[in-house]
Amino acid sequence: MRSHEAGAVHARAGDRGPTWLRTPEDPNELVSHLWASSVSKVDGVLTVAGESAIDLAEEFGTPTYVVDEDDFRRRARAFKEAFPAADVYYAGKAFLCVATARWVADEGLSLDVCTGGELAVALKAEFPAARIGMHGNNKSVAELRRALEVGVGRIIIDSVEEIARLRELTAELGVTASVLIRVTVGVEAHTHEYISTSHEDQKFGFSIAGGDALDAVRRVLAEPGLELRGLHSHIGSQIFVTDGFDVAARRILGVHAEVEKVFGVVLPELDLGGGFGIAYTTQDDPSTPADLASGMLKIVNDECAALGVRVPHLSIEPGRAIAGPSTFTLYEVGTTKSVSLDGGVFRRYVSVDGGMSDNIRPALYGADYSCTLASRTSDAPAVLSRVVGKHCESGDIVVKDEFLPDDVAAGDLLAVPGTGAYCRSLASNYNHVPRAAVVAVREGEARVIVRRETEDDLLALDIG
Ligand SMILES: Cc1ncc(COP(=O)(O)O)c(C=O)c1O
Repeated sequence: MRSHEAGAVHARAGDRGPTWLRTPEDPNELVSHLWASSVSKVDGVLTVAGESAIDLAEEFGTPTYVVDEDDFRRRARAFKEAFPAADVYYAGKAFLCVATARWVADEGLSLDVCTGGELAVALKAEFPAARIGMHGNNKSVAELRRALEVGVGRIIIDSVEEIARLRELTAELGVTASVLIRVTVGVEAHTHEYISTSHEDQKFGFSIAGGDALDAVRRVLAEPGLELRGLHSHIGSQIFVTDGFDVAARRILGVHAEVEKVFGVVLPELDLGGGFGIAYTTQDDPSTPADLASGMLKIVNDECAALGVRVPHLSIEPGRAIAGPSTFTLYEVGTTKSVSLDGGVFRRYVSVDGGMSDNIRPALYGADYSCTLASRTSDAPAVLSRVVGKHCESGDIVVKDEFLPDDVAAGDLLAVPGTGAYCRSLASNYNHVPRAAVVAVREGEARVIVRRETEDDLLALDIG
């Protein structure tokens, strides 16, 4: 019997790090495509939109998420430009606050929310409700009521119960809900791979297999208070190539065409979800929005031509690819430790003042990240390092493997790129660590867009 409570990542003999990780000639050098566009090093100090990491740490403390506002906006625009005829919904689950909701609105995008809480942020930002799409596999009556009361543009139906709830609510409120039906197409995609199955063992949507999707269409078409606009599919995350979208689009357009044949209804819209990948490390080579767009639009046009149906109005829902690369997390080093491994190799442990409470993805998904010394240049040789957090958990890893200068020490600042998505939004108070601040930088100006939590905030919840 092999028990393993102590945490997953034990070193393998002679561990020199993953094969894709190259020893850099100069560990101070930035791998530019991992960082927001205005990030560079000036005299060894990391700088973003004219603001130095040292000044940012002094003014706002650490750990801090630092967002390059113009980079975020540019990535949002890039999707709009790549999909000019489509509705681009920024997936708020990646990271949502009032400021980013306003940026998204400014850039003419729509917004995908998946809880009452995300909707509340959008409304506080005065995001146009008609450009909001509401997701969720278990939307409560209260969440649906709020969505209908404020006039949310699209509700993406995910269950039979939801159809019944909407029937009641639309009758009670005297409104019509514009809805899409989420279909699970039997495709799960991630980076370069995708698996296609005839069914899907997951909580979301109506499966094609067994006729659930068509049954949901029949139910919705029978509801006077619901206006069916189209179908929706979302096949995964961190997707680098369009292969998975190819199979997904064929399957969902198959259902789309069948709706026309069986019910005589031409659905005006189709939502192909999100999942567009980003680079976290040198091993990642995501496609650009333009490349993804040309592949996906060709697939949809060809498939519609083959099916003899009109091309529906498309929507997509990128989250990670807009928010992710625009942000890095700034940490201060607290301790370092060299642990000798087998074969005379050692690993340098570098502990920072954050960890799994500000970025759970390494612990949760085994996700890889990169890292750089942000407060000075070092002439020391590069050593294989593991950046870890301050939490009482051996799985509390921030960066599993990275080459950092050998003389990294307490007081140094480290920066981890690509933390704009699914980091702050998945942040926790584990070990009663207050959640970190989010600071936006633009044209040499830095401002707090989400303030750092204080111990008083934590204690305010503690009734005692
Ligand atoms: C329905 C839906 N749309 C969009 C997204 C955004 O995905 P990503 O941030 O990978 O683009 C998700 C992520 O889980 C999702 O579930």
